[in-house]
Amino acid sequence: MNKSNTTQAKIDLYSFEENFPNRELLKGEGVLTKGQMRYFNPRSEHILDRYQGLEGWYRRRLQAGVMSHFLKVVGDPDVEATVRDLAGREFTGINLSTVDYMGLSNHPKLKKAAINALTDKRLHSINTGPLLGNSPESGALQKEIAEYLGHEYGILFPTGWAASFSGVAGVARKDDYVLIDEYAHQSLKQGAYASCDNVIKFKHLSNTEVNLKLKEIRSKNPTAGVLVVTEGLYSMDGDAPDIKELLSICKSQKAALLVDICHDFGCTGKEGKGTLGEQDALGDPDLIVVGAFSKTLSTNGGYLTTSNLGVIFSTCSFAGPYTYSTSLSPTQIAIAREGLKLVAGKEGNERRNKLMSNIQIARDRAKHHGVEVYGTPSPIVSLHVGSENIARLACAKAFRMGVVTTILEYPVVARGKARFRMSMSPEHEHETLIKAVDIIADSIAWAKKYNATLGDTKIERSDSHISKDLPSIIGQ
Ligand SMILES: Cc1ncc(COP(=O)(O)O)c(C=O)c1O
Repeated sequence: MNKSNTTQAKIDLYSFEENFPNRELLKGEGVLTKGQMRYFNPRSEHILDRYQGLEGWYRRRLQAGVMSHFLKVVGDPDVEATVRDLAGREFTGINLSTVDYMGLSNHPKLKKAAINALTDKRLHSINTGPLLGNSPESGALQKEIAEYLGHEYGILFPTGWAASFSGVAGVARKDDYVLIDEYAHQSLKQGAYASCDNVIKFKHLSNTEVNLKLKEIRSKNPTAGVLVVTEGLYSMDGDAPDIKELLSICKSQKAALLVDICHDFGCTGKEGKGTLGEQDALGDPDLIVVGAFSKTLSTNGGYLTTSNLGVIFSTCSFAGPYTYSTSLSPTQIAIAREGLKLVAGKEGNERRNKLMSNIQIARDRAKHHGVEVYGTPSPIVSLHVGSENIARLACAKAFRMGVVTTILEYPVVARGKARFRMSMSPEHEHETLIKAVDIIADSIAWAKKYNATLGDTKIERSDSHISKDLPSIIGQ
């Protein structure tokens, strides 16, 4: 068989007929009972053999119709969208999977800014930041973001992930300490593990634990550099830290605080200034802020702001993504600048008001059905399901009943706390959201009943064959 025939045969393996719910397929090995780490085999001698079990597991889940990840959007990801799974099945429904928190991804002003940039400029930024990848426009965007967030300096990155990674990796060195919230985003955790030997997790949102751990560090090592890392709004649980108190704890122990505002930037709080704005912490000299354009400004890209020029230089020098990755394109910069103007102005306020009323409608409707809602009102409305197996069934059912949404399960969230994560946008109408939540509540109720007829499908808990640290590294 030549190479193209082999590829064709492999793709065909993923084509299955719609067959949901099918008891035999749902009871297939690991379909409802296992997570991905069960298919990682660290004992295999050849590194490339260690993940062999994963393909079969994906295929069995796909065949049974309960693989709700890796779908493609067919056409426009509007408030209603059509998605296609790897087997080619298509589902059309209310779209709650798009992190377009301010609904700007189809805004005529942002589109016009993009078209003008495409017409007037090159497609590409030509090089990395230190090597002519910047322009007066990227300089202006850096300044505008910094001013919006009350800092003196800003620096841009190709993605939000790169900004978050670099905020930690650009500041902490080998012998320093990074104290990081256990639920902090992957990008922040990987930045921490990449930069220093002393990564210490603290209990989610626990300022008391930060205080204790800082004191311990200081008693052992009075001159250590310490960076505390948290988020302005946690996207899995929809909750936020008491940043004002955290900052004052940091100051008392000569530590700096890094806050990732990817999920609250531009869309919550007065003028869209998120948790930092609400808690009057913007512009603090001991604060480093990182964030993304991707949730609110409808383009890729990330930023870091600070009032310490040394941090800008250390990030350029030590964090790989600024120096070794090609800078944002002129089009991305033009979209972000137009988006920021809009978010900071009158239309931004109107959109935030509509967004907040949508959030409230969705939360209230879930409570009406007796479904627990995580966190405080924010663009992420997470609905508790519980067991991972029930969440997989419920999500498959919701897709078939007309809702396109996401479930989160271990190791992305804690075990037994699987949930639907609905992303809100001001573009949704109230009636649409009510209908979507009704469908999700019905799907959860159906999944619980159906699961009871399947016998024991509870997710297996043993991860003893893998390194203890691995799930927590991949988690969140
Ligand atoms: C807290 C946090 N930081 C960084 C990122 C990465 O942002 P981007 O997708 O724009 O690269 C995300 C993505 O969701 C995130 O949740």
